[in-house]
Amino acid sequence: MTSIRLTDEEKKMLNGDFGSGVQQAMTLLTRFGAVFGAERMVPVDAVHLSTQCPRNLLRKMTEGVDTAKTLCSLHAAFDPSRIKEIGISEIKTGQFMATGATLDSKVFQEQLEIFSRLGFLKTFTCAPYLVGIIPKHGDVVILTGSSGQIISNSLFGARANREAVPSALASVVTGKTPETGLLKKKNRYAKILVELEGLNIEGFTDAHYGALGYFIGGVAGLENIAISGLNRRPSFESLRLLMSPMPVSGGVTMCHIAGLTPESPTLEQAFGGAKPIQSVKAGKKELQDAWEQLHTADSREVDHVAIGCPHCTIFELGEIASILDGKKLSENVSLLIGVGKPVVTLAEQMGYADIIIKAGGIFSPCCVGPSNPRVYLGDTPLIMATNSAKAAHYIVRGTEGKTKILYGSLRTCIETAITGKWVG
Ligand code: F3S
Repeated sequence: MTSIRLTDEEKKMLNGDFGSGVQQAMTLLTRFGAVFGAERMVPVDAVHLSTQCPRNLLRKMTEGVDTAKTLCSLHAAFDPSRIKEIGISEIKTGQFMATGATLDSKVFQEQLEIFSRLGFLKTFTCAPYLVGIIPKHGDVVILTGSSGQIISNSLFGARANREAVPSALASVVTGKTPETGLLKKKNRYAKILVELEGLNIEGFTDAHYGALGYFIGGVAGLENIAISGLNRRPSFESLRLLMSPMPVSGGVTMCHIAGLTPESPTLEQAFGGAKPIQSVKAGKKELQDAWEQLHTADSREVDHVAIGCPHCTIFELGEIASILDGKKLSENVSLLIGVGKPVVTLAEQMGYADIIIKAGGIFSPCCVGPSNPRVYLGDTPLIMATNSAKAAHYIVRGTEGKTKILYGSLRTCIETAITGKWVG
């Protein structure tokens, strides 16, 4: 344990001069920082918080706090009072979400009232960067959830650790966080080199990127990685699907791609001039093995299609609309699209939303992965198609394998929603 140097203001927070909520928050942060070797607190530029915040903790830590001390936004969320909008008639006794998200609409509203009082932006998305909250290179950002951190670190050059809800809430009320882990430059360098070999990256779909990321996370564990051999500049959507499974099959929170990651113009800079501690090859066999782990269904029938883990970009909605144009979903197949409201508003202006809704698709600001309400609140275990390796991983584990996954590209999933049978 280290002892943390606190500023006069931070000492006052710890002494209770700003009330009991702030005192509790600073106590938690100093203890947490001491355990993880922090020498000081640093100011936080933004917090993105899950609404799945224990009620007592939320009440206590915000006691006496009028406003959040930094820019704050809310994660993807399921509002239990709006179940009918996603085609669910009622919540039955005994049903629950694997993530523990509340199914009590009164509790949900109570929590929202506290977040509103503190000035949170009601973004309800796991992709805050798509609704205007874009971290700058070097910013300290606190994100709950599991994919925002790797995207913030690797694509925006911001500094983010994996964060628990209590410590993130403590940063909301203090505006501070202990300087640990990836907030320190020396901890951000790559350790493992992942060399792509013999892969036809030109022919990759979104699902290839996801399966590759799933493999990489599984072999890299908790280490920072750098990828070499990605001989084209993937789209932003492909990069998100590549990176978002890495913290799920493993615990990777920093993925360097030379020339793309802001602090890594070259591979040498990604490693800070040091040699990799390990090199891993990723070729056709590794990709195929990862794909087979994700695709757990052995039939071609489908009940449910989940797209938007992480929440969709406008380009993904455009692609969905182009496939659905003039068509209808197969009877008994639901299509749930996780997306933030501002992106839906843009899709309305582009005419995409109309096409998708007429075909039977549903937009929701909820999580379509481990808190997917169609999976957890529906009547039967489902066969679900998705283009998200992250959603596939979480749902198989959250349902103890009862929900079977058809894993493939966005195009394959949407065409499957039309035919009712897996077209991959
Ligand atoms: Fe978003 Fe849920 Fe996936 S919060 S990133 S849809 S796991």
